[in-house]
Amino acid sequence: MRLEEAKQIIEQTLPEKRYIHTLGVVETAIQLAQQNGVSKEQAALAAMLHDYAKYRNVSYMRTIAVELGLDDLLMYDDELLHAPIGAELVKRELGIEDASIYQAIANHTTGAPNMPLLDQVIFVADAIEPNRNYPGVEQLRQIAQKDLTQAVIATLVQTIEFLCKKQTVIFPLTIETYNAFVAEKRKGTVL
Ligand SMILES: [Fe+2]
Ligand SMILES: [Fe+2]
Repeated sequence: MRLEEAKQIIEQTLPEKRYIHTLGVVETAIQLAQQNGVSKEQAALAAMLHDYAKYRNVSYMRTIAVELGLDDLLMYDDELLHAPIGAELVKRELGIEDASIYQAIANHTTGAPNMPLLDQVIFVADAIEPNRNYPGVEQLRQIAQKDLTQAVIATLVQTIEFLCKKQTVIFPLTIETYNAFVAEKRKGTVL
C-alpha cells in the first residue's frame, strides 16, 4: 500500500485530533528513520497506521485478542489493545503483509525486549511527535536526536513513572522491555 492511500484511509478512520497526531508521528518517524539507517518507507507506513484501531469497539478488540492468544492483555488496561489488534486489523482489512510493519504497530504502546530499530523509531516518534505536550517531552526530543535506544529507555521511564504516580497497574511487557534495554545498554558500557 502506498503512503498516500494509507493517509486517506487514516483521515477517514480517525477523529481529527488523532489524525493530526498521526501526521506528527509520520514526520518524526521519517526523521528518526533517516538518522538511524531505518527504511523511511517502512517507518512512514507503520507510523501512518499505528493508531488504526484506536477507536475500535473494545469488546470487538477483546474478541480478536482471544483469537490471537493474547489473553494476558485482557487483565490490563483496554488502552493496550489498540496496538496488537491494530497490527492484526491492518493486515486483515488493509492487506498489509509486511511483518516488520505488523510488529512495529503491535509494539508501539508497550515496547518489547529486543525490538528492532523500526519498532524503536515508531515507539519514540509516538511519544515525541510535535503535537505532544507534557512535562519532559522536550528532554525526550533532545535525547532522541542523539541516541534512539537511549530515547526508548527514557520514554519507558517516563511511562512507568507516570503509571506509578497514578498507581495504575503496569503491563509486565513494559517492565520487561525496560529491563532488557537497560541490561543491553549496561553490557555496552565501558566500566
Ligand atoms: Fe497508540
Ligand atoms: Fe499514537
